[in-house]
Amino acid sequence: MEWWKKTIVYELYPKSFQDTTGSGTGDIAGIRRRLDYLQSLGIGAVWLTPVCRSPMVDNGYDIADYREIDPSYGTMEEFEALLKEAKERGIGIVMDLVFNHTSDQNPWFVESRKSKDNPYSSWYIWRDAKEDGSAPTNWRGIFGGSAWTWCEERGQYYLHTFASAQPDLNWANPDVRKALYDAANFWIEKGAAGFRVDAITYIRKPDVFKDGIPDGEDGMVSVHDMTANTPGILEYLHEWKREVSEGKNIFTVAEANGVSADELKYWVGRDGAFDMLFEFSHVNLEFKGVETWCKPNPWTISDLKAALRASQEATRTNGWYPIFFENHDKPRSNSHYFEAGADMRKASKVIGTILYTLRGTPFVYQGQELGYANMALDSVDDYDDISTHGQYAFALEEGLSKEEAMACVHAYSRDNARTPMQWDDTENAGFTTGVPWLPVHSQYRTENAAYESADPDSILNWYRRLAQLRKQEPVLTEGDFEEVFADSDDLFAYRRVTESEEILVIVNFKNHAVSYDESVLDGMKILLSSEPGTAPGIMRALEAAIWKKEK
Ligand code: NOJ
Repeated sequence: MEWWKKTIVYELYPKSFQDTTGSGTGDIAGIRRRLDYLQSLGIGAVWLTPVCRSPMVDNGYDIADYREIDPSYGTMEEFEALLKEAKERGIGIVMDLVFNHTSDQNPWFVESRKSKDNPYSSWYIWRDAKEDGSAPTNWRGIFGGSAWTWCEERGQYYLHTFASAQPDLNWANPDVRKALYDAANFWIEKGAAGFRVDAITYIRKPDVFKDGIPDGEDGMVSVHDMTANTPGILEYLHEWKREVSEGKNIFTVAEANGVSADELKYWVGRDGAFDMLFEFSHVNLEFKGVETWCKPNPWTISDLKAALRASQEATRTNGWYPIFFENHDKPRSNSHYFEAGADMRKASKVIGTILYTLRGTPFVYQGQELGYANMALDSVDDYDDISTHGQYAFALEEGLSKEEAMACVHAYSRDNARTPMQWDDTENAGFTTGVPWLPVHSQYRTENAAYESADPDSILNWYRRLAQLRKQEPVLTEGDFEEVFADSDDLFAYRRVTESEEILVIVNFKNHAVSYDESVLDGMKILLSSEPGTAPGIMRALEAAIWKKEK
């Protein structure tokens, strides 16, 4: 079995991990300083969100140079030292490839915007204005506002799926594709252990660009609905696989919002272009398609279970699943999946238990192992995240009051997941000696790595124990997934089974005790439980328990 199927991946947000210079933002030297901590989590790979040179309009997802480290993070020498020191600890470094778009400061775009006939003129998506001078189509960018920006210099509009500072590349141009593959191979040669590939569902544009039926008061339609997963996209991706990843000892995981579990077979596994694919249905339960924070739909634990079941089933015999509940774009899971008043420590352990025992490779996101919850800031101006400002403005346009729009921000802002790491109980939680770019949680004196390391009952030590369990019990890696109590809206339960072993995992999502038919425990012994004194047939509020069949 490939190494990346047997490991745990840690998603690290460098801007918020550890500052060593007093700048208030994290850096590579800070990651190197904390390698012992990362090793103590039992992980085998760290996915770094983008560290390439960038004006940071979208915190690195706007790359100005694919082969340089951003000076705010350090130098290439420091990056190479990180690769080496991490490797010595058995940790691979996974890079984030942002290939749908670049920064508008990227020399390719700087050249492209100059005229209609320069060597880079067709590297981006340029179109003429409509007759009245307005944008070529009524598409709304994912961060709000038109997906088109007028360029006076060239006398045309350019398309940007995200912010106007993130122009979309033209993948139809073979020179663009080659430049991107070369950039990926540059990082493989440096020693990268794999790639997370950003926003990949948008790389192929439709042949004909036309207006869509408006879905909001602004008269626009989400660009996602007009361009995501355009037929033919997989041809590009198979080319990328041939040119970059095939036959190499790395893994690839695609970020592919809009690909559903039943489509996974085309994307991963024997005939797929990637090893794994982040499929979002279980983290976007309240949104159909693209996220519109002010229009969430109700959902239940049964919906969550159905989404997880679908991707487990879809990768049962072909492909592999990257298990995740958090990333740098989503709310904290303990604030998202539980009833009001839920004990955060218990809720965090419920999510950690599923994360480490489903079939697939767990991706734990920075701070999740310490149980961070969402953090509500007072004013929208206190938020850094570019999409927060777009979503807030859109909510007001849709007729929400300022208070209602702020409630959406509090629930969904990406900054919920981006607050600095809390290392100890010193000022700014040991993250920086300067002014942190986002505030640390007010409870940082007890929610920090040092404090939790010393507390045997902490969330951090629960995550460490689960990581050890995955190593001790190969069935958690190799075993099939068989759901139990599928009809329950309270409990999520499943067996992990091989010919010789069987583990049963039960978690209770509810704030109250739930009883169950204890005959499922026949011949089983408790292996690990989040509360002392687990009894057969009953799950206490927010309890997690792992049972094993005695052989
Ligand atoms: C997905 C990334 O995860 C997100 O942070 C970013 O803003 C967009 N892609 C655009 O690159």
